[in-house]
Amino acid sequence: MSQKSTPFSFPNLGLGVGLRHAHFRYLLEHWPEVGWFEVISENFMDDQGWSRHVLDRVAERYPVVMHGVSLSIGSTDELDFEYLASLQALAAAIQPKWISDHLCWTGVLGQNSHDLLPMPLTEESLAHVCHRVDIVQDFLERPIILENPSTYLAFRQSTIPEWEFLNALTETTGCGILLDVNNVYVSSRNHGFDPVEYVNNIRADRVVQMHLAGHTDNGDHCIDTHDQPVADPVWNLFALARRLTGGVSTLLEWDSRIPPFPEVLDELCKAERAIERPWRVEEQVFSRTPQSEDVVVSNPVDFMLGTGS
Ligand SMILES: [Fe+2]
Repeated sequence: MSQKSTPFSFPNLGLGVGLRHAHFRYLLEHWPEVGWFEVISENFMDDQGWSRHVLDRVAERYPVVMHGVSLSIGSTDELDFEYLASLQALAAAIQPKWISDHLCWTGVLGQNSHDLLPMPLTEESLAHVCHRVDIVQDFLERPIILENPSTYLAFRQSTIPEWEFLNALTETTGCGILLDVNNVYVSSRNHGFDPVEYVNNIRADRVVQMHLAGHTDNGDHCIDTHDQPVADPVWNLFALARRLTGGVSTLLEWDSRIPPFPEVLDELCKAERAIERPWRVEEQVFSRTPQSEDVVVSNPVDFMLGTGS
């Protein structure tokens, strides 16, 4: 595999919001001032109904980006070329600025978990994912952008920090990074790593986009619920990432208990003020180290079939 560290030419679209059904009517009536919209690709693929009508109108007025949840780039199942063809068809219609998905796998042996499952972070899986990213990018005839997921389990076999894995992936394949600073924070709380070290070490020049979102803090673990405002430590991480990247397209995700659009916009606008925040994250937010009884998964197939130890 050749190294593909060429400079990116992705535009900074400013501050954007995820396009959600709950806001369709409001958008069509008000066409609010917002930099761009991100759409969940699967919600609009192979659809010519009301949702697709709204997307087409939105895409006429705003820059849009396609964000998928079904690529399953880390799986050992064959890539789904029918899915890729549908993705390509939607892209041809709405002309997104880029197409993104997640560094994860969603199923194996033909079973779909409908969840974004964590990768074993090893040299072997890195080579596997690089190979598949090459195939996808050749098919779609564009670089894809991959997001760090929020994770709750880790593989005993993992040897590479996630940020190094993503850096190697972008350097080898030329793909971009979607840095979700809320996911960095959530995973750091669940696994006991330093989120500042993560953000400080990610290849800032390969970060095409950032995600912001709210999570649920359950004390000894966090869940990526996307159902509330962005937490203070996440704003601090965002301020650090903003400083390191020099500013990239930034999107607020809100997927559950979705408030009216103006409230979402108010939360998004905090990003402008957050840039001035101190970027140092308080130590207590990442001081927890994994406990011996923490669940670790050694075999994804066992995990999928519920037979793992
Ligand atoms: Fe995200």
